[in-house]
Amino acid sequence: MSPTTGTKQTMRSEYELLDSGDGRKLERFGDVVLSRPCDQAFWEKQSPEAWTTAAASFDRERGWQSRGGAELPASWIVTINDITMMLKPTPAGHVGVFPETRMLWDWISDTLSASDEAGSSALNLFAHSGGATLAAARTGCTVCHVDSSKSMVTRARENASLNQLDAAPIRWIVEDVGKFLGREIRRGRSYDAIMLDPPSFGHGTKGEQYRIDRDLASTLEQCRALLTDNPRFVLLTSHTLGVTTVLLESLMSEVLRRGVITSGEMQLTGAGDVRPVDSGVWARWTP
Ligand SMILES: C[S@@+](CC[C@H](N)C(=O)[O-])C[C@H]1O[C@@H](n2cnc3c(N)ncnc32)[C@H](O)[C@@H]1O
Repeated sequence: MSPTTGTKQTMRSEYELLDSGDGRKLERFGDVVLSRPCDQAFWEKQSPEAWTTAAASFDRERGWQSRGGAELPASWIVTINDITMMLKPTPAGHVGVFPETRMLWDWISDTLSASDEAGSSALNLFAHSGGATLAAARTGCTVCHVDSSKSMVTRARENASLNQLDAAPIRWIVEDVGKFLGREIRRGRSYDAIMLDPPSFGHGTKGEQYRIDRDLASTLEQCRALLTDNPRFVLLTSHTLGVTTVLLESLMSEVLRRGVITSGEMQLTGAGDVRPVDSGVWARWTP
């Protein structure tokens, strides 16, 4: 199911899934082609010849390895669904963007742009390198970006600059999400839109443990307490194995009650004949 509300004819996107199979995915980020593990791809590769174009390949035992004489850059810049981001390979095999969320960036921008009200406010929790933050900020809305990793918040700020959004009204917060939400509730703050992408396991700035199975319901309760009287949406995404659309929808309807809840799969996609790969789920609540 596609979460987009329209087709952008002039959209720039330098990401594509090139192939998948045998437990791996082959992706192009701008000029850089990478081969990485992908547990969901337990079919055979469709285009084995395409894999020779990979600049580097990652596996959990040996880390990143350059392939065929090509160099894996220490960092590079790509534009995905009109959002420009700096990518840097990490020791865990990530690059600083989850491209399966890109269709949701469009939905965030479209939904916030469609608002009649000036000055909407959005909160992005577990905000990582800032894709959803910038999708909201590019509509002119005020955004609060929260992540416990100082280096990811720095990266997100760099990404804001790459999108000429350095002067945009974005609050950059390095903090544990639970502590931050508790403080915002005590201060009487509120937001029109809330986006959250909780990790399976994570850590706050002072070692606070986050576990999606134990903590998501109370995080959603805190989010409900922070919605304005005229809210726009809550958008919840998850990459955790075993978390389904049914689970996210049930949790959202239990906590947020009245309203409309929809859900779908996040997917890595490429050209028409490339088999898409499921990569997590999303659910969203609108009043
Ligand atoms: C799954 S990633 C989010 C991906 C992001 N939504 C995106 O699409 O780019 C999880 C993020 O949560 C952060 N995190 C983990 N535990 C946290 C906690 N207790 N409080 C705040 N941030 C946390 C991590 O630093 C990481 O950036």
